[in-house]
Amino acid sequence: ATYTAIVPAAGIGSRMAADRPKQYLPLAGSTVLEQTLSCLLANPAIARIIVATALHDDWFCQLPLAQHPRILQVQGGRERADSVLNALLQVNTEWVLVHDAARPCLHRADLAAVMAAGLQAGGAILASRVRDTMKRGDGQGAIATSVARDELWHALTPQCFATATLRQALAKALAAGVIITDEASAMEWAGFNPKLVEGRADNIKITRPEDLALAQFFLQKI
Ligand code: C5P
Repeated sequence: ATYTAIVPAAGIGSRMAADRPKQYLPLAGSTVLEQTLSCLLANPAIARIIVATALHDDWFCQLPLAQHPRILQVQGGRERADSVLNALLQVNTEWVLVHDAARPCLHRADLAAVMAAGLQAGGAILASRVRDTMKRGDGQGAIATSVARDELWHALTPQCFATATLRQALAKALAAGVIITDEASAMEWAGFNPKLVEGRADNIKITRPEDLALAQFFLQKI
């Protein structure tokens, strides 16, 4: 099977407090986004990578990878889900992956595992187990209840789905005003139960300044 990978990269990364969006910050000899793209490019079943960038993005076109024959740039949207939906309009493969621009430490084996599981089950995401004890707050700064930790997972990316199903689920969920922070949420809302594929916990999303040093450390080990 062939896949298209969508990389939402239209965020401004306000929590990083940097001079540029976090996906363009330097990391291990290139940039966050280029590290992310190289892992996807290394997989021969990914026919094309569609990168959704912000309207006035002056950064993407400066990357050497912007000229790569398997990479296409499209315009992103207001929220992450709008960016993904825009990119989905250009997808012509039966299977699609969505992977955050800000997750540069993906391992090839995890990518291959979620691609295989998605194809087999119709939908799958990389996820990692929760290690801390989890509490639900009461909204006033105190604990309401503890939440059983063995049932909880961190949702990571890539997330892999049948293209037509994801397109329909995302469009409907967006139109209904559902809050969607990953593609699986839209699929769940549409009645599907995507598979959880246990992936490496070092597949972090660059969010805070210190995450860059962590990512650098993890990338040395790949
Ligand atoms: O902000 P957050 O870290 O959750 O963003 C996750 C990913 O979604 C990032 O790669 C970011 O660039 C992307 N994004 C996007 N379009 C938006 C907002 C975020 O493509 N409107």
